[in-house]
Amino acid sequence: FDFGENQEDTYPIGRLKKDPDCHMQLDSLSGGPHHTVLIDTKEFYDRKLTPYKGQHVWDSNHVKLPPGLPKSNAEARWRAVQRALHNLTMSKPSVGDVEMAIKSYNHSHQMQWPFDSLYTYFKCLNKKEKNFSSVISKMASLALQLPDLIKHPIPMLKQHRSHAITMSQVQISCLLANAFFCTFPHRNATKPGSEYSNYPTINFSSLFGNTCKRKTEKLRCLFHYFSTVTEEGTKPDGLVTFERICIPLNELPTWKEQQETLSNLHVTANGTIEKEGSGMLQVDFASKFVGGGVLGRGLVQEEIRFLLSPELIVARLFTEKLAENECLKITGVQTYSVCSGYSDSFEWLCPHKDDTERDEWKRRYCQIVALDALSFKDPREQYTEQNLKRELNKAYVGFRGDPNIPSDYTPAIATGNWGCGAFNGDPRLKALIQMMAAAVAKRDLAFFTFRNKNQAQELQKMHKLLKAHQVTVGQLYLLLKKYCDDYSHYQHKKNVFEFVREMASPSSQL
Ligand code: AR6
Repeated sequence: FDFGENQEDTYPIGRLKKDPDCHMQLDSLSGGPHHTVLIDTKEFYDRKLTPYKGQHVWDSNHVKLPPGLPKSNAEARWRAVQRALHNLTMSKPSVGDVEMAIKSYNHSHQMQWPFDSLYTYFKCLNKKEKNFSSVISKMASLALQLPDLIKHPIPMLKQHRSHAITMSQVQISCLLANAFFCTFPHRNATKPGSEYSNYPTINFSSLFGNTCKRKTEKLRCLFHYFSTVTEEGTKPDGLVTFERICIPLNELPTWKEQQETLSNLHVTANGTIEKEGSGMLQVDFASKFVGGGVLGRGLVQEEIRFLLSPELIVARLFTEKLAENECLKITGVQTYSVCSGYSDSFEWLCPHKDDTERDEWKRRYCQIVALDALSFKDPREQYTEQNLKRELNKAYVGFRGDPNIPSDYTPAIATGNWGCGAFNGDPRLKALIQMMAAAVAKRDLAFFTFRNKNQAQELQKMHKLLKAHQVTVGQLYLLLKKYCDDYSHYQHKKNVFEFVREMASPSSQL
């Protein structure tokens, strides 16, 4: 085999299937046992986005909305929220007023919640950014519209159950305004064993204290989002779907028996999942608590994706932590900001005008799948058959298309070094795992190595070798299993590509 080929051999990105080109017409929008639609679907077809009505419920299966049940403590708290937020709409609120308002209905946190990071953000505002007071006032009015905008209970997307929620971007903006003002009851404690310890945090309090440049830039993104969604003329008017997908364990592939050979691969050191991968299924290198550290200090791939499209953050309100055989797919979010840098160098640059077309349900053609890789404290832990299977299954759960839609109408997957940054995975092994899962899911891959040219070339060659030998997923699985078994015995120095190449050489009987 000639390993001297260069990367130009890679499958052209232009030939990968993308939305809207490969889109298959959707059924009409309607709710059902597996899909909660928070707008009135009849009115939707009269071009109106009217909140769908229902009875409020206050239980662990639904989001506990701040207005709560009549005559409950929650109602008294909501009255306090109303008073405080109403004050913010009346005057020209300062940062101090925001702090006072939030603390007025979060008594037990009055002492321990610092707000220095919000003060720093305020001091750093430049002229181009909108007037802080007027944005805060409009956000407060938006938050107060909650009882008018959300009239139907929002189900919690709990573990071991597939369910989708579709809501309007305006409803999302209202929920996020409430999250900013920390109005969600019972969502401030994060102690193990507390009511919501299996859920991500949603109230924004953790962004307001312990100032650092990262948080200032995050607040820039978020204030830009809020200023866009509260301004007549730029208010978004579409829908977004959040779908928890759970594939029962007995429906997962038996990896060693899979007969597929690898699908097409475009691999490149240039570009990013969110930009060059637009129109494809974009992988979010997620935490099992979706959004990871977006409301704290975290600022890598997932957090950045959530800041570019803050509508994603609302998933934290209702998505229980992802189990091994689950993912969260989000369709329709908009991108609001242009940013640069990564982690400490991350910066908000300017507004982004999103011209992405919308589907029949008024959702932007933007599909993101949150997939949590395993996090390895010691990278040696990853080379076990159990972990190999876990990652294959997880990738497959995210990559599998809708069983009712033929693969010709299913876009390619845009991914990269999933699990290989903060989570310490081996980029070679993870790339093979994702190629195997994509093959079984019958989808092509665009793989972004994030400026790493050597990796792109090496991966291209590996893919070419495996295709040339028509190696099946099952065969590759057995090879990787052997790599892991050998590893556990004598922790060989060979990397997994060297091992696979050796096994694939003409003298071996692969
Ligand atoms: N496009 C393509 N590749 C990228 C991009 C991008 N936009 N951004 C980063 N990479 P990481 P993980 C590459 O560390 O290891 C978060 O806190 C880059 O090479 O974000 O799965 C989550 O909430 C980077 O090193 O993913 C989780 O808690 C690599 O992808 C945790 O991090 C991995 O990115 C997940 O960590």
